[in-house]
Amino acid sequence: MKGMLELEYLGHSAFALRDGEAEVLIDPYLSENPKAPPSAKEVRPSLILVSHAHGDHVGDTVELSNRFDCPVLSTFEVGNVLAEMGAKVIPGHIGGDFEFPFGRVKMFPAVHSSSFDDVHVVGAPCSFLVTMGGHSVFHAGDTALFGDLALIAEETVVEAALLPVGGVYTMGIKDAVRAARLLRAVKMVPMHYNTWEPIAVDEGEMREAVREQPFELVVLRPGERTML
Ligand code: NI
Ligand code: MN
Repeated sequence: MKGMLELEYLGHSAFALRDGEAEVLIDPYLSENPKAPPSAKEVRPSLILVSHAHGDHVGDTVELSNRFDCPVLSTFEVGNVLAEMGAKVIPGHIGGDFEFPFGRVKMFPAVHSSSFDDVHVVGAPCSFLVTMGGHSVFHAGDTALFGDLALIAEETVVEAALLPVGGVYTMGIKDAVRAARLLRAVKMVPMHYNTWEPIAVDEGEMREAVREQPFELVVLRPGERTML
């Protein structure tokens, strides 16, 4: 059965997906995030997904995992380091497909890197396909454009594609439009922009780039929610 799924943007690449009591929190960079909204203090995760080890994605993962006795899913080596830091980690890696009481999470690649500040290179980055309440949401993590995003469209209807648009460290808006097309996304939600000056994106330019594309651009301000 298809219920309503709530998607909240928490700034940068952080999102919460909520279906009833269940909350999936993705890349919870909250307490240090200059763009985190006040509602970031009210997260109550049932599961945390971490796309890679960079600080602007790991964020408050360990603290939240402890406070809510909440499992964390990431790529293998990143998970091992998070476990050493005290998080409750579910073993997994890219390609894995995981069932939870509230839905499923499948891990896909991302073209990027992965390192903790003081541990050098750690493991691989990933992206996540989350299926919850009958809805499918794809969080691309930090990635460049790559063709295999099209494979994801073969297995589900991606209702919302959460895609980095800030450029410099990830794909920019033009490549994000191409990614949304490969994913055959119904809605594209931009992320990983405007947190700092180097990844500033003009909203008018973004709207221009998606004109006449076969998907809807949904721009969420930090703290804004949309229903899927
Ligand atoms: Ni990164
Ligand atoms: Mn990043």
